[in-house]
Amino acid sequence: MNIVSRSIPKSDWHPASWQSLEASQQASYPDKAALDRVVADLSRLPPITTSWEVDALKEQIAKAQRGEAFVLQGGDCAETFDECTSENIVDKLKILLQMSLVMIYGLKKPVVRIGRMAGQYAKPRSADTETREGTTLPSFRGDLVNRSGFTADDRIPNPQMILRGYERAALTLNFVRSLVDGGFADLHHPEYWDLGWVGHSPAADEYHAIVASISDALDFLETVSGEQFHLTQRADIYAAHEGLHLHYEQSQTRYVGRKGRENWYNLTTHFPWIGMRTAQLDGAHIEYFRGIANPLGVKVGQGMTREWLQQLVRVLNPNNEPGRLTLIHRFGAKAIEEHLPGLITAVKETGSPVLWVCDPMHGNTESTANGTKTRRFDKIVSELESAFRVHQSMNSYLGGVHLELTGDNVTECTGGARGLTDADLARAYKSTVDPRLNYEQAMEVAMRIAGLKKGSS
Ligand code: PEP
Ligand code: CO
Repeated sequence: MNIVSRSIPKSDWHPASWQSLEASQQASYPDKAALDRVVADLSRLPPITTSWEVDALKEQIAKAQRGEAFVLQGGDCAETFDECTSENIVDKLKILLQMSLVMIYGLKKPVVRIGRMAGQYAKPRSADTETREGTTLPSFRGDLVNRSGFTADDRIPNPQMILRGYERAALTLNFVRSLVDGGFADLHHPEYWDLGWVGHSPAADEYHAIVASISDALDFLETVSGEQFHLTQRADIYAAHEGLHLHYEQSQTRYVGRKGRENWYNLTTHFPWIGMRTAQLDGAHIEYFRGIANPLGVKVGQGMTREWLQQLVRVLNPNNEPGRLTLIHRFGAKAIEEHLPGLITAVKETGSPVLWVCDPMHGNTESTANGTKTRRFDKIVSELESAFRVHQSMNSYLGGVHLELTGDNVTECTGGARGLTDADLARAYKSTVDPRLNYEQAMEVAMRIAGLKKGSS
């Protein structure tokens, strides 16, 4: 890692200026002309989000930075084109809404809901190629790039998939917006959010008790005031994905000339984040992201030094703008206590406001004896508890959580109220990438964060 001071003025920046720098984790497209045509096509197509929405989220994040709100960011490790179905989208929305309700109730703060969705189609990989039985092919990099099957045809990066990804992202967010606008997220009707298969799970029972008490409180307040609480009738859902595939991000980067807000926006999403593997100060990703006005996330893990983080903060938020920067730390349960304090101090020294969010998933991935990727619920909860403790002891605010989860009844992470073991993993393991919390595990995490449930561990 080369720590260099970057002082390129913004006038040197344009949506493709990243192309002169080294871009890690990019696919190698055999047909460059076809890629250029796709970038040109996508540059003409309408955006998926608007700058108004992006600015609104930035204000919400600024509120969370001041300790006045809490961010819940969650969804799949990788979305797939196949799973772009109405059922999947509704289920993801339901789990985010249910978790946020529990958190609002327990934390007594507004919760900002951000889905890892509508564009989470590109994945970083540890190697560029994969070899099976003597055959070497490009690694699978997510549906935005290539297909997971192990044939040359599947694995050769195909630029048409960028367009298919854009379409799926737009379809997903369109459906989410329609559901939310149509009243699906109305706090008066939390029964809309129940997942059919859950039945009498312990998590569902506890959740319903919370809902009953919220409904009573709403009824009481509305009776006393004689008014309906319109503000509670709409819950915004924002979209986020890892800003990994720079041609995709570039193509939907638009100059918005709105008075007082003249700037470049990435309108594929509201909230792109920079992954652990692409945060090099002299790399193409940081070059691209410094030039856009969106709120940005940066993953921070073991290996990130104080100096590196301070430089990142300076390059990405040179004007100390509120709401601009979110640092998502992911150290693992064992390492967090050692690494987090120094980085909190380093960021304080920059004077930049940041939102600290804990990702208790990515530092806690392990393999079972038979090689299945999993995460242990106790470690996830332990990292979260340490995160709250460390921030509090340093007079810093932990303002959010970043989770890989699904409303589906999968068995990918072990532990939780039902005590899933390694032997249960084969039953319903669906993720092609990282293991996700299932409904019960996700609700249990929400209840722990909300302080409504104490651990047995
Ligand atoms: C992810 O969020 O899926 C991911 C790859 O995370 P990280 O960059 O923190 O490893
Ligand atoms: Co992941």
